[in-house]
Amino acid sequence: MIGRLQLSRMTVALFCLAILVACSPKETKEAKLSSGFDVDSLIDEMTLEEKVAMIHASSSFTTGGVERLGVPEWTMSDGPHGVRKEHGRDWEHDEGASDSVTYLPVGVALASTWNPDLGYEFGKVLGSEARARGKDVILGPGANIIRTPLNGRNFEYMSEDPYLVSRMVIGYVKGVQDQDVAACVKHFVANNQETERNSIDVEMSERALREIYLPGFKAAIVDGGAYTLMGAYNQFRGQFCTHNDYLVNKILKDEWGFDGAVVSDWGAVHDTKQALINGTDVEMGTDLSMLPNPDYSKFYMANATIEMVKTEQVAEGVIDNKVSRILHVMQRTNIFGERKAGVVNTKEHQATALKVAEEGIILLKNSGALPLDRKKVKSIAVIGANADHKHAGAGGSSQVNAKYEITPLAGLKNHGGAVAITYLPGYEIVKGKGADDTMIQQAVKAASSADVVIYVGGWIHGYTDGWNDNAYDAESLDKHDLTMPFGQDELIQAVMKANPNTIVVLMGGGPVDMSKWGDKAKAILQAWYPGMEGGNALAEILFGEVNPSGKLPMTFPKKLSDVSAHALGEYPGHDGKVIYKDDIFVGYRYFDTQKIQPLFPFGHGLSYTTFEYGKPDVTKNGEDVSVKLRIKNTGSRSGGEVVQAYVRDEQASVPRPAKELKAFQKIFLQPGEEKEVELKLGKEAFQFFDEGKMKWVLEPGKFIIQLGSSSRDIRQTGEVEW
Ligand code: GLC
Repeated sequence: MIGRLQLSRMTVALFCLAILVACSPKETKEAKLSSGFDVDSLIDEMTLEEKVAMIHASSSFTTGGVERLGVPEWTMSDGPHGVRKEHGRDWEHDEGASDSVTYLPVGVALASTWNPDLGYEFGKVLGSEARARGKDVILGPGANIIRTPLNGRNFEYMSEDPYLVSRMVIGYVKGVQDQDVAACVKHFVANNQETERNSIDVEMSERALREIYLPGFKAAIVDGGAYTLMGAYNQFRGQFCTHNDYLVNKILKDEWGFDGAVVSDWGAVHDTKQALINGTDVEMGTDLSMLPNPDYSKFYMANATIEMVKTEQVAEGVIDNKVSRILHVMQRTNIFGERKAGVVNTKEHQATALKVAEEGIILLKNSGALPLDRKKVKSIAVIGANADHKHAGAGGSSQVNAKYEITPLAGLKNHGGAVAITYLPGYEIVKGKGADDTMIQQAVKAASSADVVIYVGGWIHGYTDGWNDNAYDAESLDKHDLTMPFGQDELIQAVMKANPNTIVVLMGGGPVDMSKWGDKAKAILQAWYPGMEGGNALAEILFGEVNPSGKLPMTFPKKLSDVSAHALGEYPGHDGKVIYKDDIFVGYRYFDTQKIQPLFPFGHGLSYTTFEYGKPDVTKNGEDVSVKLRIKNTGSRSGGEVVQAYVRDEQASVPRPAKELKAFQKIFLQPGEEKEVELKLGKEAFQFFDEGKMKWVLEPGKFIIQLGSSSRDIRQTGEVEW
């Protein structure tokens, strides 16, 4: 006889069974993982094959999941300044995918703001849009040091100075990861040229590695908490960076305590055993060499790995550690829990793109021509095909399908009011084409009858119709020299002759040779690739609606041979190897130590107002140095100033640069307003890396602290004894 209680229990059991049966087979097969699951226990349930499936690509931008246990594929996407065009599951673009996004200014433009808070806002937009596009990892920021202006990917990076890179990547990484997406700082390390990028073997001193090339990555990992990092293509001291025992095991994972996942660059893994024991956690992109029929079982970290474990050449625990790293990153980005949905193409995101462009465009020269007064200027001739050229979709893997892109010409029309604006391209963006006399004459005619000429030129991103087709700023290609393409120098000189009142706007990822016209230009602005709102930001600055506050994140040389990578070498290296004989003397560290005059110095950028620097009060409390000084806006317009602090070691036992950037602060002041700025310098600001002792050391003695508006515009100095 079944009692009443037993009857009710059976009813409940039958009811639950009915629910279970009613569930789709998938749900019962695919266990749902709760967000707090124990990673080690889950790994214990996995077969070797399931674990290995997680550590290599399952398509161009995903890695394998374990459906049986509820682990989804891990989805990645480029790029550093916008979520890339949809690649779907094949290398071919998913044409027609709804993949238009916010096209942010490129990395070097973000760095030119010298505004770490904007770094966070930038990362927040990128992370939110990556989430909205269903991505788990966004492949940025680019943290490589700008060693030579010829590097085709400088636009994706930030600076020649490790401290500026460090300050800008932290906010970026946090901004991305607060949106439940993993940032992936890249390309670790010494990927400072595109020439022979897949194989070049980089040699450098330990000091150069520690003082110049690692700090940006260390800041992203240790201070920014980046969950993933991308191993670079090149070799370092004879081992590929992606599976380099010293870089990955010793420095990244042991010294820095990195507990996230190391993702290879696409096709950067070259050996199964090295990848397994030298720290690669995820192999991507080896299918590139198998297209159009990729076979993911043939990846180095696929069947060959299973074989190595089964034949006990590698312990299964090595695989477990990789899977554990991936699962922990998945947990940190809430893949198994309540996760941010993300949004894309919002007005707020576009406003951030505008803000970064406004603060990242740099006024390099102004002999009174700017800002333009719309009451006095009745006509403007806009000359130069870059004025009407869109850059978002080119440049290589960082390409994006911008929701829209306001060109300089469109921006000038948006903000020009009653000013009559004519436009002539003056040159043609055609592979290998030089000056076009007919086009020059047309431009000269328009220039001669206008009140003002705004020339827009410089570099371009690879052509929109090609991957890297004869690009001048793009992945896998370096520039040949600093001469602008398409015969622009001839055009500019002809236009200036017709109308001396010519303002030059340069786009691109770095400097150009200005020797033929720079001294004649009434004003020069560096606009980089300023994103989808770049044209509006440029016009706001030209018409004075926005006061420029950008500062150069790299030295603009008078000539290429003044740059240490070219003066001391080596670049691009020979016989497959490049030795960084410039060592720690990169950028202004070289120019200032050797007293070479740059065209425009690191940290330089003009304003429409002026700032006065008060005498600094330098105090030392234990190991903390504080520098306080008052900054006053002595002009008639509000504006932003970047107060920079450079340190010089007066009596070092080793060669040290004449100055090293160790602190900065951006402040905004109304006309007449003054504020006290405090710059804090810890002992690390005074140390150098001692190669003999293999550690950072601080030698006693006097240090000079130089405070200025650029590395060459030093306004005040102080000193401190250690
Ligand atoms: C590329 C780039 C890297 C990019 C990756 C995926 O070759 O070097 O920056 O994220 O492959 O496209």
